[in-house]
Amino acid sequence: MINIVLFGKPGAGKGTQAEFLKGKYNLTHLSTGDIFRFNIKNNTPLGLEAKTYIDRGDLVPDSLTINMLEDEVEKNPHSDGFLFDGFPRTLAQAGALDLFLASKNQKITATIALEADDEILVQRLLERGKTSGRIDDQDEEKIRNRYQEYNEKTAPLMDYYKEQNKFYAVNGIGTIAEITERLSNVIENL
Ligand code: AP5
Repeated sequence: MINIVLFGKPGAGKGTQAEFLKGKYNLTHLSTGDIFRFNIKNNTPLGLEAKTYIDRGDLVPDSLTINMLEDEVEKNPHSDGFLFDGFPRTLAQAGALDLFLASKNQKITATIALEADDEILVQRLLERGKTSGRIDDQDEEKIRNRYQEYNEKTAPLMDYYKEQNKFYAVNGIGTIAEITERLSNVIENL
């Protein structure tokens, strides 16, 4: 089993790269953002609660997010591992994930960050906002708030994984194929 956390700022390309990596390494891709959006679209109680946070560009509270993620892991046990995209995003989530995986005799194998400058990423998200219907992409204030949330709550996770020698970073600028190759090089050397 390999369990990978795909890490990076909003718009860094986590979801795009996960689409390629999941098939290549037979991993179950779990994107907390996608799962929230599915719940919002289907008007579930979870979706209704999460929507107020997501539309502002705030993180959804840990308790909701951790329970949701653990349910999804339980539903998808038949693969060579998990590709976590957008989770964990806080130290509390990282600790909960470690405990949860340990209860299944598993652990995080590696956290791989896609690195890129904020300004490039903000432009990517504004561009996507013109056509995607994602409310959190539609104005610069919400996008900037997502970066503030990242800097305050998610960036400290880099040290958490560095201390465990599980942190790798790749350049997130280039063609999608080039970046897939960089990520694949890390995964194949684990
Ligand atoms: P989430 O859906 O995870 O959004 P995000 O991380 O803010 O950003 P994206 O998904 O937009 O970025 P990405 O890195 O996946 O890039 P992508 O491949 O899409 O979360 C949304 C919200 O849900 C959060 O704000 C929060 O409210 C909530 N949430 C989710 N998880 C949570 C958690 N764990 N705890 C609490 N709350 C949580 O690409 C972006 C764009 O760039 C696309 O248009 C793509 O086509 C383009 N692109 C990709 N690669 C390249 C490239 N190489 N060159 C040029 N363009 C590229």
